[in-house]
Amino acid sequence: MSAPAATAESMAEYYARRAQSYERVYFKPERQPDLRAMEAAMPEPFAGRRVLEIACGTGWWTPHGAAHAAHWLATDLNPETMAIAQAKSMPVSVGFRAVDAYTFDGLRGDERFDAAFSGCWWSHVPLARLPAWLATLHARLAPGARVRHLDNRFVLQSSTPISRRDAEGNSYQQRTLDDGSTHEVLKNFPAREQAVAALGPRTREARWTEYTHYWVLDYTLA
Ligand SMILES: C[S@@+](CC[C@H](N)C(=O)[O-])C[C@H]1O[C@@H](n2cnc3c(N)ncnc32)[C@H](O)[C@@H]1O
Repeated sequence: MSAPAATAESMAEYYARRAQSYERVYFKPERQPDLRAMEAAMPEPFAGRRVLEIACGTGWWTPHGAAHAAHWLATDLNPETMAIAQAKSMPVSVGFRAVDAYTFDGLRGDERFDAAFSGCWWSHVPLARLPAWLATLHARLAPGARVRHLDNRFVLQSSTPISRRDAEGNSYQQRTLDDGSTHEVLKNFPAREQAVAALGPRTREARWTEYTHYWVLDYTLA
């Protein structure tokens, strides 16, 4: 039987329940070369900057990105995922806070950053919400801010199959957790043109890098 249709709330709950087993996805053998290359490229855009990380989860990318950052605020909605990140050894620049990635509730009204990072979050934002979500994020960023989003590409044999598509073009997967529960997850796999088109007018120097299993989108804000 199919799980109920995905909502923002069910997505957050799914990741809370998956927290303990989440990092298995980073040990898939076929993804190791991509992961090492992407980790090695993480420090450069954020060096010396004040960085906001959205939906940090268990903090896989955090120590790589924060290696030379001035300050790195890792945020997530779920205490279950963030607790795993907080238990890891992190650069001294790293702090943690509960923040909703859609509303940015949890940040102070006047809090601004000069860089931002999201790992495997973009794919979970419904297509109709992407431009507004990006505009809300960019409003938190100073002129000249560097931004990096990275996420999965769909690879047959490695990715969970697509179970359905909706009228707006979002794609979904049926995923099963260790406790046997099944969950519908919204997971989009944008092409370069689609992703860049969502970025909005402040974007400069957009650069899309494709690996076998992942894409990375870098840009600077005017
Ligand atoms: C696919 S995981 C990505 C984790 C990490 N960034 C990575 O790349 O491994 C998605 C994360 O989004 C978080 N999340 C779900 N809904 C959220 C929301 N509304 N605001 C902030 N985080 C949310 C989940 O707790 C989960 O940690």
